[in-house]
Amino acid sequence: MDSVEQLAQRGGPDLTVRRPGPVRHFDRLSQRIVQLKRERNAVILAHNYQVPEIQDVADYVGDSLGLSQQAAQTEAEIIVFCGVHFMAETAKIINPGKKVVLPDLDAGCSLEQSCPSDRLRKFQADRPGLYTIAYINCSAQVKALSDVICTSGNAQRIVEAAPENQDILFVPDENLGAWVTEQTGRPMVLWPGNCYAHVEFTRDSILKIRSSFPQAPVVAHPECTKSVRLLADEICSTEKMIGYCRNSSDRAFIIATESGILHRLKKECPDKEFIPAPTDTCRCNECKYMKRNTLSKLHDCLDSLGPEIQLEPELIERARLPIDRMLRLSA
Ligand code: 13P
Ligand code: SF4
Repeated sequence: MDSVEQLAQRGGPDLTVRRPGPVRHFDRLSQRIVQLKRERNAVILAHNYQVPEIQDVADYVGDSLGLSQQAAQTEAEIIVFCGVHFMAETAKIINPGKKVVLPDLDAGCSLEQSCPSDRLRKFQADRPGLYTIAYINCSAQVKALSDVICTSGNAQRIVEAAPENQDILFVPDENLGAWVTEQTGRPMVLWPGNCYAHVEFTRDSILKIRSSFPQAPVVAHPECTKSVRLLADEICSTEKMIGYCRNSSDRAFIIATESGILHRLKKECPDKEFIPAPTDTCRCNECKYMKRNTLSKLHDCLDSLGPEIQLEPELIERARLPIDRMLRLSA
């Protein structure tokens, strides 16, 4: 089938002929977005949790590590970041000379909120000498106070590369931090923060879905609690989930992360079945922040080139050091 991009390049035909109902609106809007993107010399980067129609118009869809690497490589003048605020901030820090826009400026993250920079600064002052590793899910100010950044895709590698003679402070995800300690054997001081969405998965909710699909391995994100991680067959970042499911000989998988990833999984592995892991109260799990971005807001953002991420040059300069260190260690 022609991609939206191919159709837009040819200037037609109208996709509405093939698709009835509400999808009709999305098709026209998608075409317009692709046109605007070209006119503006923009690149659309989207996280794996974005709604399907945004993923389908994006130039790149991936996890936090892949998105940072793409941001570091792009030659486009404008970066339209379809994800949450800290991800767009990271793209701006990597590209201070480019305009970085985000469809909804209120797309936050509970992990970022759990670690205000003034509290971190005070903690570091009270316990000098700590080597601070910050999960990328934090503000630019917290990044500026850190020695190195990590993502769920490279956390093990980053912790293994930390100086052996220094104690490590890991912020702001206690679950990811605990999992990395289990993997590396390296003890760390853990900041008490978590992802409000991933901690909704429970031992009971996973046991229940597993009893309905006993042949399906459980694939979980490391932001899940230990009681869930103990039930998982594989624990990894969202991008590594795609590779794991693609390469596995299993035909069905229980996916314990934000349900937006199912679109990508179904696209990449059309012959396999993906079952969203439920919480105790809902049959799947969505991040209310990731879902603030919509196709219509993406269109308006490309049209007006706003809202824009703006950061002080001194902050960018300081926050860039630990990001660059991460990118070097992940190359
Ligand atoms: P990934 O880097 O694994 O995609 O995770 C990002 C995130 O926000 C998970 O909740
Ligand atoms: Fe933050 Fe959790 Fe949403 Fe990821 S899923 S952006 S960690 S609140």
